[in-house]
Amino acid sequence: MEIKKVVVIGMGLMGSGIAQAYAEGGCEVYVTDISEDMVKKGMASIDKFLSKAVSKGKLEQSKKDEIFGRITPVKSIEDATDVDLAQEAAPENMDIKKQIHAQIDAVMPEHVIQAVCTSALCISEIASATKRPGKIIGTHFHSPAQVMKLVEVIRGLNTSDETADSMEDILKKCRKLPIVVSDSPGFITSRVWCPFGMAAIQTLVEGVGTAESIDAAIKSGFNHPMGPLELMDIIGLDIMLHAAEDLSENFGPAYAPPPRLKTMVAAGQLGVKTGQGFYKYPRK
Ligand SMILES: NC(=O)c1ccc[n+]([C@@H]2O[C@H](COP(=O)([O-])OP(=O)(O)OC[C@H]3O[C@@H](n4cnc5c(N)ncnc54)[C@H](O)[C@@H]3O)[C@@H](O)[C@H]2O)c1
Repeated sequence: MEIKKVVVIGMGLMGSGIAQAYAEGGCEVYVTDISEDMVKKGMASIDKFLSKAVSKGKLEQSKKDEIFGRITPVKSIEDATDVDLAQEAAPENMDIKKQIHAQIDAVMPEHVIQAVCTSALCISEIASATKRPGKIIGTHFHSPAQVMKLVEVIRGLNTSDETADSMEDILKKCRKLPIVVSDSPGFITSRVWCPFGMAAIQTLVEGVGTAESIDAAIKSGFNHPMGPLELMDIIGLDIMLHAAEDLSENFGPAYAPPPRLKTMVAAGQLGVKTGQGFYKYPRK
């Protein structure tokens, strides 16, 4: 099925970027949120992002107007049932996601695909809250969603081939790089990257190097654009701790977070968002 019309449910940081990405890919996009204020803020941030591209000469004004004109705020999903895809982007909470997907399932026509936006939740469990498990699929966009190419596309146990193919097609039209993964904790990105981050912390704790030297070694030695410690500061150390705890619960102690990470989170040193992580912010 070709996806031409989308509703994005949840207009926070990710939802607004995702709505912009679908509009840039040529879709008509409805946007909604439980908070009208978040819809206004989300629309303003899309407008600002596109206007900046125009002022930098990267986008023509007429193209900006076309993209922005494809995005329409609606009060609820009941006002957006003529879509092909319902893309949820609500907070990372299993109960909230199940409730939203059950509601979408109740009001949307049978052909509609329901995409879950998640960093780590089990897609098959969310699908169990609906009567259309074949139409439920996960999307792990990376932030900022309108910029980052990678989208992990997560197939639940019952996701159909047709659903996965349609999702891959629309993401490619939006100039994303969809990578299909199975419904396993951490998918590919967190499962592979998280232990690397934890090893960087342990290397720091043991005094093998400073934060600066560890980051510099990884950047120049492996051609990474950022070092692991500075990147974890951006992601948020609370989010890293949660991911490592979840992975170690599923795959064993090799994935466990070092005690230092727990202490930093307990002390409120969460990285850029609190002004202190492995570095102090703003950085000199
Ligand atoms: N922030 C990131 O860097 C990042 C990266 C990758 C994936 N994610 C995932 O994206 C999802 C969204 O994260 P975010 O950072 O945009 O969160 P956010 O808190 O910025 O936005 C969530 C939005 O959902 C709305 N909402 C809450 N309940 C709702 C409901 N019942 N119906 C409609 N809207 C509702 C909120 O009002 C809010 O505007 C999460 O699952 C998160 O794990 C986030």
